[in-house]
Amino acid sequence: MSIVIQGGQVISSSGATFADVIVEGETIVAVVDPSSDLARAVGASSAKVIDAAGCFVVPGGVDVHTHLQLPMSPEATSSDSFASGTAAAAWGGTTTVIDFAGQLLGSNVRDVIEERHREAAGQCAIDYGFHLSMGDINEQSLQEMAAVVQEGITSFKFFMAYPGAYYSDDGQLLRAMQRAGELGGLSMMHAENGIAIDVLRDQAVKRGDIEPIWHGRTRPARLEGEAVHRASALAEVANAPLYIVHLSSVEALEQVAWARDAGQNVFAETCPQYLYLSIEEHLDQPGREGLRHICSPPLRPASTHDHLWKGLRVNDLAVVSTDHCPFCDAEKRLGIDDFRATPNGLGSLEHRMDLIYQGVVAGELSLARWVDTCATTPARLFGLYPKKGVLAPGSDADVVIYDPDVRHTLGASSHHMNIDFSVWEGMEIRGQVRTVLSRGSLVLEERNYIGRSGHGQFLSRSLSDVLI
Ligand code: URP
Ligand code: ZN
Ligand code: ZN
Repeated sequence: MSIVIQGGQVISSSGATFADVIVEGETIVAVVDPSSDLARAVGASSAKVIDAAGCFVVPGGVDVHTHLQLPMSPEATSSDSFASGTAAAAWGGTTTVIDFAGQLLGSNVRDVIEERHREAAGQCAIDYGFHLSMGDINEQSLQEMAAVVQEGITSFKFFMAYPGAYYSDDGQLLRAMQRAGELGGLSMMHAENGIAIDVLRDQAVKRGDIEPIWHGRTRPARLEGEAVHRASALAEVANAPLYIVHLSSVEALEQVAWARDAGQNVFAETCPQYLYLSIEEHLDQPGREGLRHICSPPLRPASTHDHLWKGLRVNDLAVVSTDHCPFCDAEKRLGIDDFRATPNGLGSLEHRMDLIYQGVVAGELSLARWVDTCATTPARLFGLYPKKGVLAPGSDADVVIYDPDVRHTLGASSHHMNIDFSVWEGMEIRGQVRTVLSRGSLVLEERNYIGRSGHGQFLSRSLSDVLI
């Protein structure tokens, strides 16, 4: 069936224009001037008409960093499944997620990828892909990276944090970046000095400093900045592009800017929690409230927020992802007597498009930059463009109709993520997703959810188009 989305303002990464979007089956076939003959002819045909007057028409959001049903410990698995998480994403205007297959120390790359495919297949409401998290960089896993790229998993996350689980030393990181570079893949880095952090964590607990705030105090921003600097140096020596995940601090941002100014292909993402929440207001609370806000890297001082918004404006921060890794109170409470036992992560997958649109409302970002950081650049960096991230002839019909005039309040009673609280509770939002199409199928229609598990397909990704 044909669909025509009429009367809206189409937003791309380069600007805004009034245009009609014509969809045939799963694909956009034209984006045309509303007064053109084609627009009139389609309007007069039997095509389904979606009225977008007064709304923005934007490419479906691309969230390149999620952790759905991730076992963090024997007691705690992230609370959104592939089914619930992708449905919540669609509610919030995200139509693509890239999650992770995670190779822990001692496990085999092939096994973890196959297992992740089994978990996601038939479950997702929107399209999905995987990165490979590599926690055991050795001869065999380095060899296997070639086949992984061939299968459409073209990005690899490495870890300077989490000793004993995912951590790699500098030699392993160098070898893995060299290999990713040779293959045309993108190296992603969790940049925190985990060896030093573990010393600080153990010292804190030994002193009896077990409250949630110590999670933040034992992961100083200096050790994120140091890790970003080291990762950039290793990437330069390896002749490989680098993508810093979940950047949280001024110190880390300065190092990204420095590497970029020197001409290196270093890119970075930040996440909504680092733009809005803070260590002093949110993490520095006793018991349950503080535990709810434990994530890594930790929340930083509120004075960081302006710097990160500026980073997004000037492209030192290229992407906003969520690092969605939610846990319910029962799991967060595991750390009530020792902050180290709290599973790390927050839930924001449903709210990313709204939260970053508030930056437009506040004058921090242009509409074009909203779309660029939340859809277009993530699609380009991770080998999905122009299938995803843009409204153009030939692209998948992943389309969001966003009403800028609706006001609503975020919270656990209205969200669709499987979390029994919200770190966004009470936040007032201007603008709301009204209708969402995923590959031409209506998932959300006038805020009625009509999506289904199994509609979403695995995305076998190409190499990053920013780099070729
Ligand atoms: O706290 C976080 N970020 N949890 C998810 C795991 C990770 O390092 O991305
Ligand atoms: Zn990480
Ligand atoms: Zn993550």
